Amino acid sequence: MFTKISFESELESEERATILLVDDELMILQSLELVLERYFRVIKETDPVKALDILEKEKIDVLISDEMMPGLRGCDLAERVHHLYPNICKIILSGNSDKKDIVKAINKGHIYSFLFKPVDVNQLLQSVKHGLENKKMKELIEHQNKILEEKNRDLVDEVLTKSRKIMDMEKFYELGKFSASIVHDLNSPLQTLITGYQLLEDELSNSGAEDSNANNIMTLIDSSLETLENMIKSISNRIKSSISEKQVEFDLNDLIERNIGCMKIMPKNSYPVEISFMPSQDLPKMKGVPLHFDQIFANLLKNAYDAVEKTEKKKITVKTLQKGEMICFYIKDSGTGIRPEDMEKIFETGFSTKEIGKGTGLGLVITKQMVNSYKGKIKVESEFGKGTAFLVCFPSK
Ligand SMILES: Nc1ncnc2c1ncn2[C@@H]1O[C@H](COP(=O)(O)OP(=O)(O)OP(=O)(O)O)[C@@H](O)[C@H]1O
Ligand SMILES: [Mg+2]
Repeated sequence: MFTKISFESELESEERATILLVDDELMILQSLELVLERYFRVIKETDPVKALDILEKEKIDVLISDEMMPGLRGCDLAERVHHLYPNICKIILSGNSDKKDIVKAINKGHIYSFLFKPVDVNQLLQSVKHGLENKKMKELIEHQNKILEEKNRDLVDEVLTKSRKIMDMEKFYELGKFSASIVHDLNSPLQTLITGYQLLEDELSNSGAEDSNANNIMTLIDSSLETLENMIKSISNRIKSSISEKQVEFDLNDLIERNIGCMKIMPKNSYPVEISFMPSQDLPKMKGVPLHFDQIFANLLKNAYDAVEKTEKKKITVKTLQKGEMICFYIKDSGTGIRPEDMEKIFETGFSTKEIGKGTGLGLVITKQMVNSYKGKIKVESEFGKGTAFLVCFPSK
């Protein structure tokens, strides 16, 4: 019936697009359908208002509508369609419109093409072809924009995370430097105390007095000074070893045992807490900087200790275990627990529910960072009012 048109093969190679054809004159509708259905899937409708319902149910690529229709003009229909589905290509057909009407219709309804009746078949097919290309281009740009937006968002997140990490590391090193200077400053009054004690001891023995009370006091001071001196030496050694950051093989059970021992003798931990440690037998050795693991464990133990301060039951349970290829430790307390709404925040820099001067909100940030640096994992479970448990695992190799 129709002569083969020049771009027929191009149209056929396209994935079949769907055209919604709207015209109140059934004859025109049917003849246009005959032309278009060779290349496209065609849905036809004589009522422009019903055409809007079709758009809700069908995925339409092109709307071809007559302009002069009772109830709704073609350009008004196109305007509504544009509002709901901006990417649909809209083509208007009209028999007797003047230039002004055409310009108005195009601007108002974002119409891709305006064709005069009787419709030139070639022109109509060309318009549909170009309209579809235009639609595809729009969709491609939208898609690319979305990808770019996502990439942009990811980049912003990455920059934020990295800056936070740098800030946290800086704080960590600042804290390290601060403790090094405290230890250094503590050492000189300690040496004065030791010298003073020795002088006093000489004085007492020279006076020949046999005061057993004074002797008892001297023994007490002597042992306290010794403990203090050893503590300062061990802290200095730890700081020195942290500066060298030497990786060594070590036993996690020993490290935990030592940290629990330290925690028990800290003078500010004045309330009695039952700490039970269940070391796993045959735990493989771990490799890393022991001070980092000291810090990880000590931060969690300190949090557990703080959590039981005001609760009646004061119990902390520590276990080491092997989970497949991972070496883990588990620390559970019977403390206050964490409010569900705070669970997300506890690893954020500066988040602390402790009173000012008691918590800086850095402990878990540093802990997580260190765990991550050993490709480890940290998990937390908590029930507000009942207690909290942390599970920390590291790959064994
Ligand atoms: N075992 C725990 N039980 C209850 N709450 C906890 C526990 N561990 C952490 N939290 C909550 O997480 C918050 C953040 O802990 P984090 O160790 O980072 O900081 P902090 O202990 O407040 O201060 P610091 O910097 O001195 O460690 C705590 O203030 C507390 O609210
Ligand atoms: Mg803490």
